[in-house]
Amino acid sequence: ASTTDRVVDGPTPKHAQLREILRRAIERELPPGSPIPSERDLAERYQVSRLTVRSAIGKLVEEGLLTRARGKGTFTATRRMELQLYLMSFTDDMRRRGLTPATELLHCGSEAPPPETAGALGLAPRQPAYRLVRRRRADGVPLAVERGWYHPRRVPGLPDLDLTSSLYDQLAQHYDLRLDHARQTVRSEAADRETARLLGIRAGDPLLVFRRVSSASGVPVEDMTSWYRGDRYEVTMQLDRTV
Ligand code: GLP
Repeated sequence: ASTTDRVVDGPTPKHAQLREILRRAIERELPPGSPIPSERDLAERYQVSRLTVRSAIGKLVEEGLLTRARGKGTFTATRRMELQLYLMSFTDDMRRRGLTPATELLHCGSEAPPPETAGALGLAPRQPAYRLVRRRRADGVPLAVERGWYHPRRVPGLPDLDLTSSLYDQLAQHYDLRLDHARQTVRSEAADRETARLLGIRAGDPLLVFRRVSSASGVPVEDMTSWYRGDRYEVTMQLDRTV
């Protein structure tokens, strides 16, 4: 880590500050598979408790940026693992595949979400949230429909942003918000009429459905479900035998 990186007193918890410092160090300076310093060394270097170090490292392990080898220490993950577990926007996902992304905004409003979403975002019952529906294209082909919810206090004035570009970029630019964790589930579904129409397929055709609840520093921001054409989209996973 560079010498300007310091953990300071302030509103951001120390473990979160340290996590970001370590993330930068890993991304910039540590090649895949390098050992990271011991808990004790890191605690000393950044003048924080070992508990803080443990919490910061634990989070990076969870994200897949670091891996623990029993009895040997903690190492930066191999590149493949990072790719697999990287929390990616649609825009980044398409660019990595060499495709050009495009987005149409189909709906943007403020409504009370279903109870499940209110729960996931930590909203009071019937408290409105921003609802966003977008169609995403790759090289001009309609590939996905995204319907989801955003926490109104985390992203006030969301409807005023350019919602036809990368939302994750917009959140970073306008709210300094970096979504750093997500819980994503994948399921299959047959296309209903409306989704089929939007994607240029037939009702009943297969879709891959991803529901992602994403948060920034532990605070949930989006509950987004994406319907991808089953005939056009695939997910690649790099699986290493670790047990
Ligand atoms: C993926 C995720 C969505 C997320 C979107 C952001 O599609 N499934 O949950 O909202 O990426 O992508 P972008 O930043 O390109 O708008």
